Amino acid sequence: MSLKDSITKNNIPHHIAIIMDGNGRWAKQRGTQRIFGHRNGVKAVREAIEASAELGVKYLTLYAFSTENWNRPKIEVDALMSLLINTIKTETETLIKNNIALKTIGDTQSLPKAVQKKLHEVVEHSSKCTGLTVILALSYSSRWEITNAAKRLVQDFSDKKFAVEDINEDRFSSYLTTDGIPDPELMIRTSGEYRISNFMMWQLAYTELYFTATLWPDFDKEELYKAIVDYQKRERRYGKISEQL
Ligand code: IPE
Ligand code: IPE
Ligand code: MG
Repeated sequence: MSLKDSITKNNIPHHIAIIMDGNGRWAKQRGTQRIFGHRNGVKAVREAIEASAELGVKYLTLYAFSTENWNRPKIEVDALMSLLINTIKTETETLIKNNIALKTIGDTQSLPKAVQKKLHEVVEHSSKCTGLTVILALSYSSRWEITNAAKRLVQDFSDKKFAVEDINEDRFSSYLTTDGIPDPELMIRTSGEYRISNFMMWQLAYTELYFTATLWPDFDKEELYKAIVDYQKRERRYGKISEQL
């Protein structure tokens, strides 16, 4: 029996965010190069996208490359960028055929020009798709995002677009790269690490966190179902007490 049958249909998270971690260790366990792990991670990305689309999830954010990941050896960074371009090239048609839109969050201008160009094409091309939206976090970190938001907010304030009293959570959120996207209800991190690694720190304020020891290349549809079933058992109180819900 698939765990899919245990999922309550009217309580599917609208937005799931995933820190896809453990590719390097997966490769190491097999005595291969780290990039082999990244390549196998693509299969897991496909599974997560397919399962999310089938369940009717509206947004799936995938942490693919962090601001800090630029500090990895150049050979790995280059290989990740090539993998990114090639994957987008081979998957675009399938995305569009399945009515899936692609968006990015992060400092995409710091990506190699060829990657930027390819991303821009797919984002444009898929912008009319109304099914699942896949959000790739690339050259992303929360501190970058929040600092960047603050800068732009201050600029608009200096341009007299609003008064100090008009600054509230909603206005601030609108300066984040996730503007218009609801906060995730569920955040999954693979590979047994219990940390956020500079990911969506504003957006995760009330998100349910799910950690699994499974390494990302081994993450399949059943793993996603398992996370959703776990999520559905939780009581989300938002500071209230049970009896008030
Ligand atoms: C996640 O896997 C992918 C990226 C960060 C790009 P890692 O490459 O971090 O794998 P581990 O954590 O070293 O096993
Ligand atoms: C977080 O994983 C970033 C991505 C999954 C893209 P890392 O492997 O880079 O995070 P740390 O270094 O373990 O915190
Ligand atoms: Mg890692």
